[in-house]
Amino acid sequence: MKVFKKNKLGSIELKNRFVRSAAGSGVASKEGFVTYEVKDWYRKVASGGAGLLITEMMTVWDDSNFPEYYLRVDDDKYIKGLKELADISHSYRSGIVAQIGNYGSLLHWEPNKIPVGPSNVKDAISCIEPHALSEIEINDLVNYFIEAAKRVKEADFDGVQVHAAHGFLLNKFINPYYNNRKDRYGGSTENRSRIIVEIVDGIKKACGKDFLVLLKLNSDDYVNESYGFKFDEARKVASYLSNKGFDGYEITSGLAGGRISPARPLDEEAYNLKHAKIISEENNLPVILVGGIRSLTLAEKILNETSINSIGMTRALTYKPDLINEWMNGEQVSKCIACNKCFVTDGQLCIFNINKEAI
Ligand SMILES: Cc1cc2nc3c(=O)[nH]c(=O)nc-3n(C[C@H](O)[C@H](O)[C@H](O)COP(=O)(O)O)c2cc1C
Ligand code: SF4
Repeated sequence: MKVFKKNKLGSIELKNRFVRSAAGSGVASKEGFVTYEVKDWYRKVASGGAGLLITEMMTVWDDSNFPEYYLRVDDDKYIKGLKELADISHSYRSGIVAQIGNYGSLLHWEPNKIPVGPSNVKDAISCIEPHALSEIEINDLVNYFIEAAKRVKEADFDGVQVHAAHGFLLNKFINPYYNNRKDRYGGSTENRSRIIVEIVDGIKKACGKDFLVLLKLNSDDYVNESYGFKFDEARKVASYLSNKGFDGYEITSGLAGGRISPARPLDEEAYNLKHAKIISEENNLPVILVGGIRSLTLAEKILNETSINSIGMTRALTYKPDLINEWMNGEQVSKCIACNKCFVTDGQLCIFNINKEAI
C-alpha cells in the first residue's frame, strides 16, 4: 500500500507516509522540561509506527504567555531533554520535528501580561485586546523563532514546523481582520505573510537547507465570516509562500478554544480534504492532510486519488499509539469517538486509556 511506502519530505527520508500530528502532552515539567512521562509518550508513539512525529507547540519566546507543563524551546537549557526525544524517535526510525510558535491573543495564560498581536484588534474568542507588535519587536520575534530552530537542530531533530494555524499569533498576522497594520507587515497577502517568510528564510540560513521546515496552515477558521480567516485567503497565502523555502504544508482548520475546534467533535472523516486537495494541486509542495482520519482504507484512498503526500493523525494515535503497526496487519477503524475529552484530561490522555498501566 502507498501509505506504508517510504517517503521523503525535504531531504528527510521517512519510513512511511503517516505523521503523528502535534499533540500537547501537559506532562512536561512545570518549567517546560522533558520529563519521564513525555519520553514515555514519545516512545509509545514512535514504536507504534508513525514515520514522522510532530511535537506539541513549543514556545519560542519567554513572553509569559504560555502554559506550564508544556514543552518549551526558548532557552538553551531545554536542548538536553529535547535531544532525548530525538534519540527515542530515531531509535524507532521515526523522524521528528518540533512545532514552534507563540499563542498570541487567543489563549491567555498570564493575567498580568498583555499578549501580543499584529494589531490591537480585540480577539473575538478571548475578548483580549493584544499589544500591537512594533517593527523592532517583530524583528526580535523572528529571531526568537530562528534561535529556537537552532536549538532544535542542536537537539538532533530533523526540523521544525512553524505554527501559523488554530488562531495563534502567526495565524492572526495573515488574517486581514486581525492585521490592520499600515506598514510592510500589513495590507496585501504578501505583506501579511512577510513575518512567516522572514522566519523560514532565517531558519534555513541558520540551520541549512537540509533542515526540514514545515508550515501548519489553517485552510479556514470556520468561524464568523467577519473575523475568520477564510479559504480564499488561505489559498492565496499558500500560493504566495510556496516558493519561499518551506518543505511542505500541513493543512488544518478551526481555532483552539473556538466553537469549531481543530479537532472536530463530529464523527466526520478527513474534514480538511477538500481544501487540502486544492492547495496540494495548486502548489508544488508536499501536503500533509490532518483532521478526522481514522481508517486505513480512507488514508490509502486519499493518497491514491489525490496529490496529497502524507496522512496526519493525532487523536487516533492518542487512543492507540500503535495503530499504524496494527494497520500493517490489516484494516481496523480507530475506536476513537472524537469526543475531544483528551484536551482536558491530565496528561492529555484518551479517556479510554486513563488508569491503564500500558496503552
Ligand atoms: C489533545 C490535543 C492537543 C493538541 N495540541 C496541538 C498542538 O500543540 N499544536 C497543533 O498544531 N495542534 C494540536 N492539536 C490538533 C491536532 O494536531 C490535529 O490538528 C487535530 O487534532 C485534528 O486531527 P485528528 O482528527 O487526527 O485528531 C491537538 C489536538 C489534541 C486532541
Ligand atoms: S478522549 Fe479518546 S476517544 Fe475522545 S477524542 Fe480523545 S482520543 Fe478520541
